[in-house]
Amino acid sequence: MSNEPRILVSGAGGFIGHHLVKYLVKRGYVVRGADIKAPEFEGTDANEFVISDLRNHSECLKVTKNIDEVYHLAADMGGIGYISAAHASITLNNTLINAHMLSAARANGVRRLLFSSSACVYPQYLQKRPDVEPLREQDAFPADPEEGYGLEKLYTEKLCQYFTKDWHFETRVVRFHNVYGPLGTFDGGREKAPAAICRKVALLADGSEIEIWGDGLQTRSFMYIDDCVEGIHRIMRSDYSAPLNLGTDELVSVDELVDIVSSIAGKKLVKRHDTSRPQGVRGRNSDNSRLRSVLGWEPKTPLRVGLIPTYRWIEACVSGRLHQPVQTAAE
Ligand SMILES: NC(=O)c1ccc[n+]([C@@H]2O[C@H](COP(=O)([O-])OP(=O)(O)OC[C@H]3O[C@@H](n4cnc5c(N)ncnc54)[C@H](O)[C@@H]3O)[C@@H](O)[C@H]2O)c1
Repeated sequence: MSNEPRILVSGAGGFIGHHLVKYLVKRGYVVRGADIKAPEFEGTDANEFVISDLRNHSECLKVTKNIDEVYHLAADMGGIGYISAAHASITLNNTLINAHMLSAARANGVRRLLFSSSACVYPQYLQKRPDVEPLREQDAFPADPEEGYGLEKLYTEKLCQYFTKDWHFETRVVRFHNVYGPLGTFDGGREKAPAAICRKVALLADGSEIEIWGDGLQTRSFMYIDDCVEGIHRIMRSDYSAPLNLGTDELVSVDELVDIVSSIAGKKLVKRHDTSRPQGVRGRNSDNSRLRSVLGWEPKTPLRVGLIPTYRWIEACVSGRLHQPVQTAAE
């Protein structure tokens, strides 16, 4: 029998979870995936895939049986349009999923659980200017997180810490900063800025007008999916249990993001800003000092490099050429 831990990836039907399953299976782990839906764009590589509504405690008990380590990614989430519009359902669903998953994992003797938190936990008062200071882990308190989604993530971070302190249940807490790449949702209202912009650019003729949410000056940093899954695995294997940022510190404005995607597409587009649309905080960047000191590693893929396979994949999808082989940025 292998000594490798038996793994559960919750949210394995979603963007990061699907990529993480591939990454772990390639490294020889035996992986069970669980999600309320199957992956949207291609079949799973998981050794076993369970369709399951993880808001229910009984379902969480089933999927954590005979599991050593849980990568807990399942969440009701989406881009800024979705998370600004659905506070009650997002908060309720994620509270149920997270409390039940933690409790079931502990009841079943799981050795370690990694919780996928978010940069949305950081106080809004620190994110009021496009040229923001990068956010450090210790900045999360005094708290003023994103309504609903961010507040619930911060609460579950604390719940993980209480499980560790009171019951010696090992947890890892990762704060993702905007992840992008092929096989991510790019339409339907839950997509995030890079995917939405790639879709718009792919659908527009050269010289036409592109609608941008907000004034385009709002800034973010973006992490390529291959870096994200490698970082998640490294953090799970580390001894570090307090919250850790996982992102890049390459800050760009949304207008710059549009320029990069347009240049990859070989199109010149005229920007039209719609300031009536939600745009989130004015600026958000990741401080990776603690990540570097814990792991001796940080995400490295430049935005321009990671956006090439991302744009090509979305372009192939919207022009009806689905199921193109997906190349990573390194290829
Ligand atoms: N993508 C990002 O930029 C980003 C940023 C910060 C945090 N995160 C966090 O990372 C995790 C993964 O994000 P993602 O981008 O892959 O999102 P995603 O929406 O693609 O994946 C989440 C998955 O959870 C599943 N899910 C939702 N409700 C469920 C339920 N009741 N039972 C079972 N499964 C359920 C969804 O079906 C989906 O497949 C989430 O916890 C998210 O909050 C992501």
